[in-house]
Amino acid sequence: MITIIAAVTRSGAIGRRGDLICHLSGDLRHFKELTMGKAVVMGRKTFESLPGGALPGRRNIVISSRADYRADGAETVGSLAEALKAAGDADCYIIGGGRVYADAMATADALSLTEIDIDGPEDADTFFPPVDSSQWVRTAEGETMTDARSGVSYRFVEYRRRH
Ligand SMILES: NC(=O)c1ccc[n+]([C@@H]2O[C@H](COP(=O)([O-])OP(=O)(O)OC[C@H]3O[C@@H](n4cnc5c(N)ncnc54)[C@H](OP(=O)(O)O)[C@@H]3O)[C@@H](O)[C@H]2O)c1
Repeated sequence: MITIIAAVTRSGAIGRRGDLICHLSGDLRHFKELTMGKAVVMGRKTFESLPGGALPGRRNIVISSRADYRADGAETVGSLAEALKAAGDADCYIIGGGRVYADAMATADALSLTEIDIDGPEDADTFFPPVDSSQWVRTAEGETMTDARSGVSYRFVEYRRRH
């Protein structure tokens, strides 16, 4: 099972200046619960944005076009296809960023999205690809929660690929 996991604003934004749009502790906890023990596949830029380096307790697979790229605590591969091959039959989460999500939309089985109830922001520079309803069916929508620190509301939703 290949699942794309992302936190997305109403405008489809996922990042700015190499960082997330907002850090919601409930979302980070949810991300950790879902991905723990699994293979996580990410682009080189997302890997370099992780504050503590490779994600502990998970098999980190990093995509780079640079054959000599080395990432501490992670395996490096040259393409999404190679990453998926390396993960084999294990459950695998595609964790970003924009370029890798765009590639993975064609092969993923499921989307696990955090919908963040903010517009924009205007300075966002990285976006999630459009979710085409002819390809994806929404199968779950969690209750709306509010982040105590920022006051931002959000919910967890899931999509499965239509067969
Ligand atoms: N909201 C969320 O859920 C979420 C999740 C993750 C990341 N983000 C945000 O997204 C932004 C980063 O996304 P991004 O699109 O700029 O970068 P990215 O997808 O994380 O990484 C792009 C890099 O990955 C490598 N790569 C990706 N696909 C490749 C392919 N098919 N073949 C060879 N190399 C490939 C290349 O590395 P080389 O340049 O080394 O060749 C490329 O420059 C950050 O702001 C981050 O915080 C948000």
